[in-house]
This record gives sequence, C-alpha cells and structure tokens, in this order.
Amino acid sequence: MSLSLTINGTQREITSDPDTPLVYVLRDELKLKGTKLGCGLEQCGACAVMVDGKVALSCVTPVEAFDGKEITTIEGIAETETGQRVQQAFIEETAAQCGYCTSGLVVAATALLSENPAPDLDTTKAALTPHLCRCGSHPRVLAAIERASKT
Ligand code: FES
Ligand code: FES
Repeated sequence: MSLSLTINGTQREITSDPDTPLVYVLRDELKLKGTKLGCGLEQCGACAVMVDGKVALSCVTPVEAFDGKEITTIEGIAETETGQRVQQAFIEETAAQCGYCTSGLVVAATALLSENPAPDLDTTKAALTPHLCRCGSHPRVLAAIERASKT
C-alpha cells in the first residue's frame, strides 16, 4: 500500500509500514528531524505538526491516517508570514532553553495565531495546555506569542 502526504508543500510517497506513527516517518524516513519525539503518549506536545492548518500530535496516530493530508512541520513553518513572525518572536524573547519542546510550541503558536491573530492570555494558555516544557520557559513562550500576536 502506497501513501502520499504533502509535507511542507511537497508531495512525498511514503514507504514505511502504514501502522507507523507519523513522527517516525518524518524523522526516520524523511529525515525531518525538527519534529521531536518526547513521551510518545500524546502527553507532552513535543511532536506537534500542523495537519490541514490545525495542530496535531504525531507520536501515536499511524501515518496511514494522514494519507492525502497537508502536513507542515517546523522545517516548513516559516513559509507563512505568521510562522515567520512566531519564529522571530521566539528568538527575540529567547523563548527556549534546551529547545526540546520548542518545535511543538512554535507549531502550536503558529496554528493558534493563524486562526486567531490576537488571542487573549487565557486562550493562548488553553492552546498550549498539551505542551510541557521541563526547562520552565513558559513565561518567555507566552511573551513571544504576545509579541507575535496582532494586539
Ligand atoms: S511525543 Fe507526542 S505528545 Fe509527547
Ligand atoms: S526549553 Fe527545554 S523543554 Fe522547553
């Protein structure tokens, strides 16, 4: 069975077993290492990507569930103006320490601001609820999203 995914604007044929969770296909087959594997249990947010414009976790759902969908990973996030703005704001607010959670957070923030360009703090916190940061960068992440938002 052959699967076809559009990843960062490019159509890719996938040869991995269809049961393979998407994050392994991204990292191991396609060598897109920016998407991180953390808990592997949909509990930390490290593996977040965008699927048809919405944030989605990639560590459990098999790749076959994404057949025909448009996926944006951290490598493609700067292809939109919103993604560029979020990335720049994370840099300006130094909103990362070890950086392990950062890909997922940048993806989630981009999905949030694409849908709601000026979220209030509670809305932003709710959108980031699935995302853990063991380094305690949360205040700077919130500052970065506020900087990137059009308030
Ligand atoms: S690795 Fe997917 S949520 Fe933790
Ligand atoms: S910056 Fe280290 S886990 Fe978030």
